[in-house]
Amino acid sequence: MLAGKHIILGITGGIAAYKSVMLLRLLIKKGAEVQVIITPSGKEFITPVTLSALSGKPVISEFFTANTGEWHSHVDLGLWADAMVIAPATACTIAKMACGVADNMLVTSYLSAKAPVFVAPAMDLDMMAHPSTKRNLETLRSYGNHIIEPASGELASHLVGKGRMEEPENIVKVLEDFFCTAKPLAGKKMLITAGPTYERIDPVRFIGNFSTGKMGYAIADAAARMGAEVTLVSGPVSIAPEERSVNVVKVESAREMCDACTERFQDTDIAIMCAAVADYAPAHTYSTKIKREKDEVPVITLVKNPDIAATLGRQKHPGQILVGFALETDHEEANAKLKLDSKNLDMIVLNSLRDPQAGFGTDTNKITIITAKGSAMDFPVKSKTEVAKDILHAIVDL
Ligand code: PMT
Repeated sequence: MLAGKHIILGITGGIAAYKSVMLLRLLIKKGAEVQVIITPSGKEFITPVTLSALSGKPVISEFFTANTGEWHSHVDLGLWADAMVIAPATACTIAKMACGVADNMLVTSYLSAKAPVFVAPAMDLDMMAHPSTKRNLETLRSYGNHIIEPASGELASHLVGKGRMEEPENIVKVLEDFFCTAKPLAGKKMLITAGPTYERIDPVRFIGNFSTGKMGYAIADAAARMGAEVTLVSGPVSIAPEERSVNVVKVESAREMCDACTERFQDTDIAIMCAAVADYAPAHTYSTKIKREKDEVPVITLVKNPDIAATLGRQKHPGQILVGFALETDHEEANAKLKLDSKNLDMIVLNSLRDPQAGFGTDTNKITIITAKGSAMDFPVKSKTEVAKDILHAIVDL
């Protein structure tokens, strides 16, 4: 399972660094290609010579190799890795990761990493129990990082408690489990909409909204990682999917989005309507810029746009799953349920603009998933990446 996998092993300055040697050895034995990045204080505990001899690669610690000036690209490393494991992770490094303090090669590479990150804390029991460490670990979890909980036992201080880095064999097991997890959406064709729509008034103006596409793109990436064949119909946004396999179809207006979706829906197993579609469009689009008149204010007549989710809801055949979103500002649950029924959805994801960490543009969201069968499940504030996984797991459960 680990054969051929590219793994960054991050080592920080704690006594448990001696266990990283065994971890490195086990990873290499499993066939993984391992790049060690060690923090300056990590080198106080273990020498790069041992690590490079075992990994077969020079160990990286600084941004440059001093005598040659060779630059180590944290961005390239972040793209190269299939997984990043930080073991041991000291309280200091955990805090830097939580806050984005990129003052060494390890934390800089962490911030650039696209791959899943596994963190194996190791520290004294009081440091482990301190509210700031707990909060920082919670923050890392909210970023989608996997925390490999430390074990309890006798610590380097001879105190007994929680803080011992998990044994290398168990860390390898966590990685193996991660990579062998069945891809629950394998073989499924998914259609996902994201972003806003723009409805042109004239060549320079449009009716739009604040959607950035972050939520829809996170769902598309997560679905691709879970094995689905994903088509992402996207309104105008300035982001791109992280997963190369996601097929992006770019559209501008609600009508274009509707056409792109209806064309593909018959061949779709699961559709998720995350786009913020303009409900109305100008009845007429001016071919030249509307000029500012001295005394007159232009009147723009609007016409209704198609309701894409409702259109697909009418076309849905048994076996297809159609999921909508509801973005509400009041009477949230009642409005979401009305949309669930009227659009013939199987599930609706409610997010409210009354939650400051939810909705447009944020990196987080707070959702309630309501199913046509009547169940409703509230989730805490999470990163959009994690929210995407919650939505997809709920769909798998369906
Ligand atoms: O893109 P981000 O900045 O990350 O923001 C994410 C988000 C807030 C846009 C997203 O989480 C979200 O809530 N998307 C749905 C926004 C919306 O239009 O909600 P609505 O309650 O107005 O629409 C209900 C459902 O009908 C949605 O699934 C919508 O895609 C769909 N719809 C709406 C109107 C229309 N004409 N056609 C549709 O298909």
